[in-house]
Amino acid sequence: MASSLTTASAGTSGSEKTFFGHPRGLATLFMTEMWERFSYYGMRALLVLYLVSGGADAATGSQGGGLAMTAATATAIYSVYVSMVYLMAMPGGWFGDRVWGARKTVAIAGFVIMAGHASLAIPGQAMFFVGLALVAAGSGLLKANISTMVGHLYDGPDDPRRDGGFTLFYVGINLGAFVAPFVVGTVGEKVNWHLGFALAAMGMGVGLIQFLFGTKHLSAKSNVVPNPLSPAERKSVLVKVALVFVLAAAFYGVVVGLGMYTLNWALVPITLAGLIIPVAVLVRIKRDKDLDKTEQSKMTGYIWFFVAAAVFWMIYDQGGSTLSLFADDKTADTVFGLGFPATWYQSLNPLFVMALAPVFAWLWLWLARKNQEPNTIVKFAMGLVLVGASFFVFIVPMNMAGDGTKVSPMWLVTIYMIQTIGELCLSPSASPSPRRWPRRSTPPR
Ligand code: ALA
Repeated sequence: MASSLTTASAGTSGSEKTFFGHPRGLATLFMTEMWERFSYYGMRALLVLYLVSGGADAATGSQGGGLAMTAATATAIYSVYVSMVYLMAMPGGWFGDRVWGARKTVAIAGFVIMAGHASLAIPGQAMFFVGLALVAAGSGLLKANISTMVGHLYDGPDDPRRDGGFTLFYVGINLGAFVAPFVVGTVGEKVNWHLGFALAAMGMGVGLIQFLFGTKHLSAKSNVVPNPLSPAERKSVLVKVALVFVLAAAFYGVVVGLGMYTLNWALVPITLAGLIIPVAVLVRIKRDKDLDKTEQSKMTGYIWFFVAAAVFWMIYDQGGSTLSLFADDKTADTVFGLGFPATWYQSLNPLFVMALAPVFAWLWLWLARKNQEPNTIVKFAMGLVLVGASFFVFIVPMNMAGDGTKVSPMWLVTIYMIQTIGELCLSPSASPSPRRWPRRSTPPR
């Protein structure tokens, strides 16, 4: 498939094929990420609906066969899962940097994600939680390394094609996210949840196979372990990990043995870890004695961007839980007389991203030419204000639905559009002014 997207073009050595003028390896990474996002967003579109399905909070008339949880439990599980995906990017970066190198980490991650979705395809609560943990772990491993490999394809940060390459990569993300709800979402929501999850597994499988076949096009740098563990460090890490596992197994063994185990025994510690670990890592970096004054001040700026981005994505991710449940239960399920399943709303954000990103790229350039382009801080602030405002707008349809009225789909369309405009203010990929953005070391999403 990738080859159909490549063309021989001038600008690269000899007759080497390029991908829209970019190194051929970008096609491999574009397709890998596209399929990974297809599986991720396809499953995400089903997740809370599957969890409530069959229970009191499910929409009337929706298919059963889910885990019959309350909306509160379903959104708590969803939130912990999404925060784990973000959190796992840290060990993901560490594995790429110190153990396997980016390329091998991505291959392993792809396999873990596929196994996760395949587990979800098997009915039952135990398989569900195993699957969710595998998808979260694999996604963190993959996301932290694949964009590093995009960077490897270019001649350093000043290669003029580099930012265009990341923008193309961002299109791949949103293309996968756009198509997934129509395929995985429709089959899962309307036919069988587990068949939907199986399609997500197949999507990741296709992405993984083409990645393995396409590795020859990637930069040799992506095969290198930049800072390998010494044997002593390796031993120390293994001992610490084994210790944590033994302690956790003993602790949970006692909790289960005493008959006290409930879901909160898993959700609360993971939630706390999601708060404490990033703070601890940032404090550690900030206290690093090796950083000089300038680096310290850059780190402080970075921390504020990190916090702002975390708040943004925290609100944005409600799109897959609170808004999705509202779409299912309280929104009319037809548009222009045609059926419109709840999962399809998840395609709105990537659709708006693809439609509006060129407009924003043009807008920033136009403002830059007039010396009026807002700086990064202002853009972040705009992103935060917009994503917050989207929930103010949400108050209106929530009130309208209070008496059982099914509200117009245009409310959700408007809310997702406001959020997407916020995303485009935050996203470096929608900005053609590379030097105004912190150089990206993590994926756009
Ligand atoms: N806009 C979403 C993302 O970039 C799909 O992850």
